[in-house]
Amino acid sequence: MSSAEKKVVWITGASSGIGLALTKKYLDEGCRVFASARREGELAPLLASHDALVFVPFDITDDSQVHDVRATLLAHTKHVDCAILNAGTCEYLDLTETDPDWKMMNRIMSVNFSGLVNSVEVCLPLLKYSFRPHLVGVSSQAVQAAFPQAEAYGASKAAIRYFLSSLRMDLKPFSIDVTCILPGFVDTPLTRKNTFPMPFLMSSDEAAKRMHRAIESRPYEFSFPKRLSTLLWFGRHFPKLWMTMLTSKNESN
Ligand SMILES: NC(=O)c1ccc[n+]([C@@H]2O[C@H](COP(=O)([O-])OP(=O)(O)OC[C@H]3O[C@@H](n4cnc5c(N)ncnc54)[C@H](OP(=O)(O)O)[C@@H]3O)[C@@H](O)[C@H]2O)c1
Repeated sequence: MSSAEKKVVWITGASSGIGLALTKKYLDEGCRVFASARREGELAPLLASHDALVFVPFDITDDSQVHDVRATLLAHTKHVDCAILNAGTCEYLDLTETDPDWKMMNRIMSVNFSGLVNSVEVCLPLLKYSFRPHLVGVSSQAVQAAFPQAEAYGASKAAIRYFLSSLRMDLKPFSIDVTCILPGFVDTPLTRKNTFPMPFLMSSDEAAKRMHRAIESRPYEFSFPKRLSTLLWFGRHFPKLWMTMLTSKNESN
């Protein structure tokens, strides 16, 4: 397949975890992959062995980089077929501290929400030149029911979900499909610092396999694994019981 015929994919947060696993998956499929993050990180060996992979450095929180990042992409390709906006981070609010880190709320919104918005601004003009453009954003199953200490992370991921739902309507005239992905617990550097139980935890390769398959069919929304969605459905519909379940351990301490 010539480089002109290959599907062009842009993945943010590609230096680690889910983004790295997705990058490998799309390279295996024969796509041209533009991989963004602040660091090359674990992408370095892949960059050395794959001509179809290009690293495009991008701090998604820095909106002054938007034009330069777009220009870097345009230097290599006129269009992007699929943009997977996956970069994100997680921190928890700890109100047991004497001086809680409230600034963290802005930090998380800036990476997870504003960063995704900046990434949309980068890729929209390139998506418009694709024959079958697809914009994919990564939210989280955390939006399905409340979790303690997840004020910042949950709010940022809920904002992504709403933003993408609205954007889907506004991009319809341009025939750009929009998918919001809600992963459950995936074993990555982001979750390795968690000290609470993570039901149905899966590997990043397994998560990337499921996301890749789902992205092919362009759903509005894809949440996985289903067993976690069911558990969170319960949490959403029985909020008092859910809260008791999640907070009773803390009260007994
Ligand atoms: N792991 C899970 O259980 C889980 C569950 C639901 C949703 N998610 C979501 O899935 C996505 C990927 O998470 P992960 O678990 O794979 O985490 P990860 O291994 O920590 O990877 C996060 C990626 O985001 C990039 N990133 C962070 N801040 C950035 C910034 N300011 N600018 C550019 N890139 C930045 C990191 O690259 P650099 O540090 O090199 O910039 C890294 O490549 C996140 O949006 C996360 O919220 C994860």
